[in-house]
Amino acid sequence: MALPNEFIEQVRDANEIASVASSYISLKRAGRDNVCLCPFHSEKTPSCHIYTDTQSFYCFGCGAGGDVITFIRLIEHLDYVESVKFLAQRANIPLPEDSLDKRAEAKQRMLEINRQAARFFRDILLSEKGLPGRQYLQQRQLSENTVRKYGLGFAPDSWDALKNHMLSIGCTERELLDAALLAQKNNHSYDKFRNRVMFPIIDRRGNIIGFGGRTLEPDAPAKYLNSDETLVFHKRNSLFSLNFAKNTKEKYLILCEGYMDVISLNQAGFDNAVATLGTAITPEQARLMRQYCEEVVISYDSDGAGQKATMKAINLLGEAGVEARVLQMSGAKDPDEYVKKYGADGFRLLLEKSGGAISFELKKLALGLDMDTPEGKSSYLKKAVNLLASIENKIDRMVYINDTAKLCGLNAGEIEKAVDEKRRALAFAARKNEARELINPPKKRGDGLVPHSLLSPAEKAQRGVIAFIIHSPDLLPKIEKRLSEEDFKDEFCGKLYGAAARRIKNGESVDLSALGEEFSAQEMGKITGIIRENSLLPYQKERLEEYIRVLENHRDRYGGKKPSELSEEEMLKQMELIRKKVGG
Ligand code: CTP
Ligand code: MN
Repeated sequence: MALPNEFIEQVRDANEIASVASSYISLKRAGRDNVCLCPFHSEKTPSCHIYTDTQSFYCFGCGAGGDVITFIRLIEHLDYVESVKFLAQRANIPLPEDSLDKRAEAKQRMLEINRQAARFFRDILLSEKGLPGRQYLQQRQLSENTVRKYGLGFAPDSWDALKNHMLSIGCTERELLDAALLAQKNNHSYDKFRNRVMFPIIDRRGNIIGFGGRTLEPDAPAKYLNSDETLVFHKRNSLFSLNFAKNTKEKYLILCEGYMDVISLNQAGFDNAVATLGTAITPEQARLMRQYCEEVVISYDSDGAGQKATMKAINLLGEAGVEARVLQMSGAKDPDEYVKKYGADGFRLLLEKSGGAISFELKKLALGLDMDTPEGKSSYLKKAVNLLASIENKIDRMVYINDTAKLCGLNAGEIEKAVDEKRRALAFAARKNEARELINPPKKRGDGLVPHSLLSPAEKAQRGVIAFIIHSPDLLPKIEKRLSEEDFKDEFCGKLYGAAARRIKNGESVDLSALGEEFSAQEMGKITGIIRENSLLPYQKERLEEYIRVLENHRDRYGGKKPSELSEEEMLKQMELIRKKVGG
């Protein structure tokens, strides 16, 4: 724990949320609570509520929410610790400088432990026990140089090899658990990474902040396993290989999906490749890239998932102000395979050919259409006009209108006319929308929470169980007997459940102020929304029981998979089962 919990509570209690908020925006009383125009999005009717009983705020317009600390994070653009300090100052509470020093010390210690672990994995790789790892890396055609450059290692097929080694050099079990090198079950800790090739994850300053491990077993449940979040490891704002890429002479970065892609590209001479750490790209990562380049070439896998992720990356990079280009690959499934098959020169050609984000989207629109038929052309044009109309810069718009005209064998002037018409219609619709919102404010906007009324029973149940845990942490052991993180299919709910369970087991608080330590200000809004919607119903054990049952049934129904993960065959089988149930 960074700042002592008592200190955070003291600071929070000394800063009444309504009084803090009222120094930024004028509040209107509504019963015991207050409402105001939301300071975090622009609106004309107040949809931000400030609750007295829970000392929290929630905006039904944009989904911002949290406690007084989150409020300060958002409005002053400070991080969590800075916000607590800010509020401490406001209330004249002296800072526990000690604990800040302790936090820095704890981080240093964890980095040292990671360094020792990386050394152990590397030594194992070079030893007799490392033979399977060496063979694997050889088969992936990595040179000894590359293996050394990336500090790759091998975690042996053992439950306690790392644990015993680290204990023998003076680490404690607690420290190893905190560094996420050990996992724990029924109070017994064991090596988290077993029989895996280990990829140290290194930050910009050269610190080893975590690990990715690739299994050598063809049918292991997880091909890659990454360190959990720790005091020093935050996936959402780290990029693999940025420690090398930040020194590149190129003015652009190459963004890949996988560790192996990045390493292969480096071996082939592309030192400017980076990858996200087993998650989709985050806004923080997009901003991080912007610090080092003007342009990013998205180089994701050529499969459907990769192409879908490309769209998301285009949007996030655009929001961060980075020019995005898209590299399109055929004949190989990912950059790793491509450089092996076609060499560095082949890949360089792809880089040179990679087009702007809009070209990528325009090309995608033509997929599945026969452009040689009038029908194909016409349905292409309809979609293309919508896309072209969304380009704000007039010169860019003309360039793409010309491209489209060539593709369809039409006159650019005609297309331009259609695009202008569309833009006028869009502007009109926007004005109309604004007027409608004035009369009838929308329930939800932005990327906050999906409103409760639109949720499926399973989604309601996930959020409900979490609200119960935050409301009464004592319930966790009982809930854990029946549910696991896997049952929380919603990505955010899974993360929240995992974090809450871990905190409770470590004896840490799960109140809003404490959760702010590890969740972003935006995520705090979602958490507050979940608590809010559930506080409208009584916290009775029948309700909890119902939620648990829904999640148990759901697990049985889909064999532990998300519906979106089922293969077509599995999906058909499920539908057959359901049909049988309904029929008989
Ligand atoms: N990943 C993960 N967990 C998985 C699968 C993938 O965290 N179960 C992450 C890893 O960071 C991995 C990246 O997603 O590097 C890309 O996954 P994938 O395309 O499956 O990896 P490849 O690089 O193709 O893996 P390999 O070549 O080793 O088979
Ligand atoms: Mn691969």
